[in-house]
Amino acid sequence: MQKIFSLFILLVLISCKNDDFESVYEDVNEPYSFEIPSNFPEMHYNLEHNPLTTKGVELGRKLFYDGRLSSTNIVSCAFCHEQPHAFTHHNHNLSHGVHDRVGRRNTSATQNLAFQPWFFFDGATSNLDTVSILPIHDENEMDETIPNIIEKLSEDSAYQKLFHQAFEDGEVNSTNMMLALSQFMVIMTSSDSKYDKYVRGEPGGELTPKEAYGLELFNDKCRSCHATDLFTDHQFRNNGLPVNPNLNDKGRAEVSGNPNDDYKFKVPSLRNIELTWPYMHDGRFGSLESVLLHYRNNVQDYPNLDPILRTENGLGIEMTDEEMEAIIEFLKTLTDYEFITNDELYFRT
Ligand code: HEC
Ligand code: HEC
Repeated sequence: MQKIFSLFILLVLISCKNDDFESVYEDVNEPYSFEIPSNFPEMHYNLEHNPLTTKGVELGRKLFYDGRLSSTNIVSCAFCHEQPHAFTHHNHNLSHGVHDRVGRRNTSATQNLAFQPWFFFDGATSNLDTVSILPIHDENEMDETIPNIIEKLSEDSAYQKLFHQAFEDGEVNSTNMMLALSQFMVIMTSSDSKYDKYVRGEPGGELTPKEAYGLELFNDKCRSCHATDLFTDHQFRNNGLPVNPNLNDKGRAEVSGNPNDDYKFKVPSLRNIELTWPYMHDGRFGSLESVLLHYRNNVQDYPNLDPILRTENGLGIEMTDEEMEAIIEFLKTLTDYEFITNDELYFRT
């Protein structure tokens, strides 16, 4: 009797376990609702191969905030991509990773990634699902390997459960890890700034006369490169910065090997620009004033300087002090307070 009873308990345990694994995906996971902002261009990321789900996003968020993705178990993605600064590394011109090692570039804002065809200043990858491989393997960033990470995560029951809930095959593996991170990065959408409300005619979108004047100037002087409501045309361009001799970062040419791409960098979005200082690929400018002074006074000549910055009157963009002030006033309307305080983007246990 005793034996039969124990066998019974054992069977119940086994079947409970199987039940758990089989039913858990459908029971608790639901489609995650995501709307493309009406003033945005078409989405680039293909959601059909990785549909957003509540558990997929939750897993992605946990991974993004988890130091175990690095060799020291301290440096998470969010260590460098901090939400209050639109997911940049506040106060660092060049990024700091494991053992306080200094990288070569300023941390980019992670926002509206689903709408981008390229990632990183040199466009090192065009696939959001593989973006994480770069920081994970970079010795100055996370300095870790994917198999090590999977080993660490597999030992953690909270992760076992979440992977089972998030994906049909339930495996704790690198494919699912990348897909979950992408799901989280897709929802990092910044589209609720004052400017967005202005464009969509929503309450809170009334521009002051100075902001409206700044927008007019911006459309005239900056919009050809910082285009669409993403504020980038996704091209690689040389905007005439003096070469930084300590880094000699050749930008796009480091990926393409084409000398005509020397010192061309991906045109960055200007969303949340008030929060993401310092500026440019090497974080050389601490303020928007210095950025504008560069465009006005200090654009350097290169054979492949962007033709837009070469005018009859010389190099750069003509602006009076008042015009610069108005442009900056306008740029501040791109700050999205809902984005930087959005609970969905913040890790909670
Ligand atoms: C040590 C700091 C650091 C860590 C950790 C880090 N990043 Fe980054 N991230 C950067 C820097 C610096 C750049 C710009 C690099 C470049 O352009 O070459 C960047 C760029 C990016 C971009 C490109 C954005 C764009 O618009 O092109 C994405 C996406 C991104 N990181 C996601 C992640 C994810 C996901 C993780 C975690 C797996 C992560 N990062 C970890 C510093 C970091
Ligand atoms: C010819 C194309 C072009 C024009 C015109 C242009 N930009 Fe840029 N801008 C770029 C490129 C390329 C970069 C990135 C360069 C780098 O990081 O090395 C950039 C970077 C910036 C940055 C730094 C962004 C960051 O996240 O670090 C700001 C701010 C900026 N531009 C503002 C402006 C303003 C304001 C105007 C108009 C007065 C303007 N730009 C005109 C191409 C352009």
